[in-house]
Amino acid sequence: MTLEIRPLSDALGAEVTGLDLTRPLSSKDLAAVKQAYMDHHLLCLRSAPLTPPQFAAFSKQFGEPQLQLVRRRRDEVAPEVAIHETTYEKPEDKPDDMHMIRLSGWHTDDSFMEEPCRYTLLQSINIPDSGGHTRFCNVAKAYADLAEAEKQRLENLKAVHNYDTRRAPARPTALTQTEKSETHEVVHPLVITHPETGTKAIYYNFNRTDRVVDMDRADSDALLDWINEKITQPRYRYEHEWRVGDILFWDNRGVIHSVNMDFPVGQKRIHQRVMLKGDRPA
Ligand SMILES: [Fe+2]
Repeated sequence: MTLEIRPLSDALGAEVTGLDLTRPLSSKDLAAVKQAYMDHHLLCLRSAPLTPPQFAAFSKQFGEPQLQLVRRRRDEVAPEVAIHETTYEKPEDKPDDMHMIRLSGWHTDDSFMEEPCRYTLLQSINIPDSGGHTRFCNVAKAYADLAEAEKQRLENLKAVHNYDTRRAPARPTALTQTEKSETHEVVHPLVITHPETGTKAIYYNFNRTDRVVDMDRADSDALLDWINEKITQPRYRYEHEWRVGDILFWDNRGVIHSVNMDFPVGQKRIHQRVMLKGDRPA
């Protein structure tokens, strides 16, 4: 098998084929994959579904896994892997308004943490016949395209992130007392610099960014709405139509994502996820 890397869209993303993900990668292939995620922000590695221990072993080649906050999703054998089932079991589980599903909101993973995960690896185990695509936006490109005055306006602003914000219409997964005690408000810059490439990007999470520091609520809401609209324009987007076994591997410092939750009731949609530790966005 030969490693091949092919861009998925003009905005971001590359497809990676020709790797056996059940075995350790050669140092040459590992270096090529690492370079590819620097260049493209998002990779799609084509594979068959891995077992949770295989998926954990594959992910560990790229960093140290971070245990996920919600305990009940953690796999019993490989706790660094979380199982995410988003199936609509009954018709009443699926709202008419997709905004009422939390995953529909554009976000960067775990921004409510002081040191949010750096990379996310998500593998599909079951997918519905239609819909359920995961969408990505290149927030580095969105920042680069801002007018100079807009960049300066955002330059030194910081925002408060929390497990939930009333700005989002849908509520997150309920937490246990232990889990709750591990979340609190944190402050991150609105513009961050990528630690490896030096590229600047907007750091915003529709589901967790509550307000801009030292700004009144109305002005803060207006600014955050403006950011949300700017960075999610179609020209920054790639929408991934899953195949079973695909691993999407993205850099939370360069992309935001959301899910098209419009898919048939009763069809299984299951993914497994590993998050790799990061440092404080700066
Ligand atoms: Fe996510």
